[in-house]
Amino acid sequence: MSERKILVTSALPYANGPIHLGHLVEYIQTDIWVRFQRQRGNQCYFVCADDTHGTPIMLKADREGITPEQLITKVGIEHLADFTEFYVDFDNYHSTHSEENKIFSSLIYNRLRSAGHISSRTITQAYDPVKSMFLPDRFIKGDCPKCGAVDQYGDGCEACGATYSPIELKNAVSAISGEKPIEKDSVHYFFNLADFASMLSNWTTEGHLQPEVRNKLAEWLNSGLQQWDISRDAPYFGFEIPDAPGKYFYVWLDAPIGYMASFKNLCDKKSLSFDEFWSVESTTELYHFIGKDIIYFHALFWPAMLSGANFRLPTAIFAHGFLTVNGEKMSKSRGTFITARTYLNHLNPEYLRYYFAAKLSAGIDDIDLNFDDFSQRVNSDLVGKVVNIASRCSGFINKRFDNKLSLHCSELALFDEFVSCNILIAELYESREYGKAMREIMALADKANQYIDEKKPWLIAKQDNKETELHDVCSVGINLFRLLIAYLKPVIPSLASQAEKFLSIDSQIWPSEATPLLDHTVNIFIPLMTRVEADKISSIIVDSKENLEKTIDTSSPITKKNEPKFEPIADTIEFNDFAKLDLRIAKIIKATHVKDSDKLLQLTIDIGDETRNIFAGIKSAYSPEDLEGKLTLVIANLAPKKMRFGNSEGMVLAAGPGDKDIWILSPDNGAVAGMRVK
Ligand code: 2FM
Ligand code: ZN
Repeated sequence: MSERKILVTSALPYANGPIHLGHLVEYIQTDIWVRFQRQRGNQCYFVCADDTHGTPIMLKADREGITPEQLITKVGIEHLADFTEFYVDFDNYHSTHSEENKIFSSLIYNRLRSAGHISSRTITQAYDPVKSMFLPDRFIKGDCPKCGAVDQYGDGCEACGATYSPIELKNAVSAISGEKPIEKDSVHYFFNLADFASMLSNWTTEGHLQPEVRNKLAEWLNSGLQQWDISRDAPYFGFEIPDAPGKYFYVWLDAPIGYMASFKNLCDKKSLSFDEFWSVESTTELYHFIGKDIIYFHALFWPAMLSGANFRLPTAIFAHGFLTVNGEKMSKSRGTFITARTYLNHLNPEYLRYYFAAKLSAGIDDIDLNFDDFSQRVNSDLVGKVVNIASRCSGFINKRFDNKLSLHCSELALFDEFVSCNILIAELYESREYGKAMREIMALADKANQYIDEKKPWLIAKQDNKETELHDVCSVGINLFRLLIAYLKPVIPSLASQAEKFLSIDSQIWPSEATPLLDHTVNIFIPLMTRVEADKISSIIVDSKENLEKTIDTSSPITKKNEPKFEPIADTIEFNDFAKLDLRIAKIIKATHVKDSDKLLQLTIDIGDETRNIFAGIKSAYSPEDLEGKLTLVIANLAPKKMRFGNSEGMVLAAGPGDKDIWILSPDNGAVAGMRVK
């Protein structure tokens, strides 16, 4: 088969918050597919970028006292570091706030306008008179017009599920200033999606979409296509619309164009042909991996925009489900809103890559990260089955045969059986049925272990004149291990490359034609992976609970427009729970830096009848010398917590949104150490 030319994208993460495990489902899913394609010898490019425009990013920069450009630069660096450490191997990671994206956004808009697909009209919207800006629905809060539930967002009620326009909300206030919004008129620009109704009816039924996605699309198409509002008024962080001063492209207009922009940036660096991948005559393949919440944008707006602007359409859109943790939506209060960085601080990223692979299918069902299951699978499959084969055989090869494998393969049929499975495993990777692929590979690992169990090299080793048999059995084991590593390489690339070093072989291609390594010298085996330790998982949960800064929750149901929303503050507690708290005023006697921690300070505090050692995450706001002598509120009866740095015997309470804005008490208000707080 001739080499395929493939361009792959993952959805562009918003540049206003950290990458979390929910995001990683998609980047890991895509990366496995890309690595598989490359291992098969296909030319496969993987591009992505930060999604940098829009109101939430503008407001976040404002809150942090920096420019949006500074914010997106900082976040872009953090995102790329997270992806790199999870072995997500982009060919290019760019930004939607780039010259290429500006050029393509204008080009596409101009082509759509020239072809008559853009119209404009005046609309009335909620406006914050204090901040002098129009308010996106998500930034208006008030009481539900249907059930009266308080503190609901402008586009729908989380209590009764009603959807409505923000103008209907009772007692509405701006979530930015707290002020009552007024109504104000403004001219907006619209993309006439209905012009593409018949094109989309065909395209969505021609095999570019998963069956469940196609059905959803049929419902949307049947209910009629509305004009899409693609403009926003200043102030807005984005690209100004060429012929409309003061109007900006809505972030979702230029976001998917970011795929093109990132690829163009790669083409310029690597002298690739952009047109070969994007012209309307292109014979290359184009795939977008996305979450199921953004299907509307990718399967309706995006193909319509491409078609109207005379570019090629995607070969397929691959949607996936959301991540739940221990069966529930990720939650900050439960410590299951886990960032990539927090995970990386404690656990090997390849554990998660394997676990996600084991759970992923081609469908859009949600996948659950259950920590007991996670440890059990990683320990039993990767450590107990796969790596174990090499560790069981390599000792003998090293000590008795000077690291050399035998001259012939004594189990050619078994070896060939392993090779012949490559066809099925390749089909499963290709169709994104990774869970099934992992089961096939583990069934082979079981077979290899069974072979070793039956042959019992540890007994042969004790017998006289059995050197050849021992050599053969261990060499077969090592050769089978090598094939398993080839099959797992897209999922655990770093372990695979360490295994290749041990085997003293080049980077493995897909083993459709593999023959055994004979008379081949390997290196000394060093353990390739250790077991998941339970206390590391507890540390992740603890750190995630501590990470209390409010971040944007980007998940939303399939039928809802994807606007970032703020996570509700916390579940309520009963009075009895509150009454259990022993809240006291404490005096900070000593404060010191904590080695290797960029958040924590170590405090010695006096709570009246004793002194305590507490680690507090307030380093961003205070230097140790500023704290000594100050008072603070503590929870004195919190069970001691074992941390990496030592025991923490209580919790310091401080006010403020975080970062530099954290305030503890000052000693001039009559409070004294030990005073109980009522
Ligand atoms: O939903 C999101 O997180 C968006 N930032 C995805 C954009 S994908 C593409 F269209 F750019
Ligand atoms: Zn309601």
